[in-house]
Parts: sequence; structure tokens; C-alpha cells
Amino acid sequence: MKIIETIEALRQELKPYRNQTIGFVPTMGYLHEGHLSLVRRASQECDIVVMSIFVNPLQFGPNEDLDRYPRDLPRDAALAEQAGVDFLFHPSVEEMYPNPTLTQIVVSKVTEPLCGASRPGHFTGVATVVGKLFHIVMPDRAYFGLKDAQQVAVIQQMVEDLNFPVTIVPCDIVREPDGLAMSSRNVYLSPEERKQAVILSQALFAAKKGLEEGEWSTADEVNRFVREMILTQPLAEIDYVETLAYPSLQPVDELKGQKVIVAVAVRFGKTRLIDNILHAGE
Ligand code: PAJ
Repeated sequence: MKIIETIEALRQELKPYRNQTIGFVPTMGYLHEGHLSLVRRASQECDIVVMSIFVNPLQFGPNEDLDRYPRDLPRDAALAEQAGVDFLFHPSVEEMYPNPTLTQIVVSKVTEPLCGASRPGHFTGVATVVGKLFHIVMPDRAYFGLKDAQQVAVIQQMVEDLNFPVTIVPCDIVREPDGLAMSSRNVYLSPEERKQAVILSQALFAAKKGLEEGEWSTADEVNRFVREMILTQPLAEIDYVETLAYPSLQPVDELKGQKVIVAVAVRFGKTRLIDNILHAGE
């Protein structure tokens, strides 16, 4: 595996592989099994796998965790290599943004609910950096986790609207043995917060079962059920609990026959966790 820090060097390295299938896994590092599952899928389906590790300042709000976002390049490089990465792209902020960017990619509608509402500007930062990375890497296939299901919907929309020549591959959520969705931010949780955080996946799995059994007819009923279950944990502060059509992320009234997402964002102390389940409908 080669570690590459400049855009020009990566372009040169990838030149000989342009007639092969290039798979791309964009990340912000501090890798865990969730990230590595994307790499494994990419290396099964592609000839060459490129991973980026870049903590993108553009997608963090002024009071968010940009400065304390966990970083460990030597550990990440070893994990990436083992999982099958061929080129690890690790640019500096100056390399990616030598000047304040005057051009941004704004995706509307799908960015409005959920994390778009609680984190203004977040998805513009994500779409802009992913657009830049797609232009730099020019991948055939790019792998994204459904842990960030709204991010997948936003990137799919951007790729369709702006004709990026890339196939987006959504990948399943990887979880800890007790059900907690893996996240680089889980390291922030105190032991007590970590224990209580398992309620997110428990509430979502129970909601999925209820949906499969036709227990509810409206989104509100599902939301109420999930909300009440999460609030049994005293340290949980709910940011949102929402059931929406997927991938349009538009409101649903009647659940019958709809593909829906049940998505939650919950704060434990200073740490904001997100999780979701998809229900295929009939
Ligand atoms: P990051 O949070 O590092 O996540 C990188 C990729 O790993 C994303 O596609 C995310 O959905 C996926 N991922 C994270 N946890 C996962 C889990 N438990 N199971 C499956 N996949 C998981 O998402 C970002 O970085 C950034 O927004 C980025 C796209 C790199 C743009 O800066």
C-alpha cells in the first residue's frame, strides 16, 4: 500500500490503472470494522482500491468536534493495508483547500430533514468534499455505509444531478456484538453512556419487527414507540426520531407499501450518536 499526500501524486499513481476498475472508500479515519467492511467489499468488486482519510473542516459546524475528532494515521494505515487498500490518500487541509473555496455543491430537499436540520451546512460540506474527491480519484465505484443513510441519499442525488461517472454502492451497517452501530465517535462515550447507548439499536430493531408485523399504520406511531423506548435511559437526550420515505426522505403518512427509514440522533453527554433501520415495505 502506498500513502500519498498530494493530489498531483495520486493522479500520477492512478494513471496506469485507468482501464481497470477503481474502487473508492472516502473516510475521515480512526478506522473501525464499519470502514473496513467497505474496503473488503471494494476489493472483491474492483481491481484497485483507493481510500481517503481526510477530516473535512467544511462539514463541521462552529460548535462541533473538528478539533477533537480522533486521529491515528499509523494505526489506520496498518488496518487499511490489511483490509486491501492499494492507495491511501491523506491530504492536508492546505492541499485540499489552498484558498477558501468559493464553489460549493448544494443539494436541496434530501438535505432538509434529519441531520440536515440539526447540522446546518453539514451536507454542503460533505457534497463539496466528495465532489472534489471524485474529481481527484475518478473512481468507477464508490462505497458508502448506510450508517449515514442520509449521506448516501445526498451523494446519490448529487451523482445523478451532476452526471458524475461513478456507481454509488450503499453498504450495510456494521455493529458491535451488543448492537451499537460502530462509529469513530464511540470512543468519546463514558462506560455508563456506552452501556445506555445500546438502547438506540434495541429501539430500532424493535421498530423494524413491529413494521414487519404491521403493528402501526402511521409514521407518528412508530416515532412515539421509538422515542419512549430511548427515553427509558436517563442519559439519552433525543435530537430527532423520524420515520420518512427512503431515499426521498419526504414525510410519509400511511406506512403501507412504502420503503421507509426510521432514523435517530441521540446525545449522550457531549457525544451525538446516529443510527437507523430501513424497512422495505410490501
Ligand atoms: P466517516 O464518518 O469516516 O465514514 C466513512 C464511511 O464509513 C461512510 O460511508 C460511513 O457511512 C461508513 N461507516 C461508518 N460507520 C459505519 C458502520 N458502522 N457500518 C458501515 N459503514 C460505516 O462519512 C464520512 O466519514 C464523511 O462524511 C465523508 C464521506 C468521508 C466525507 O468527508
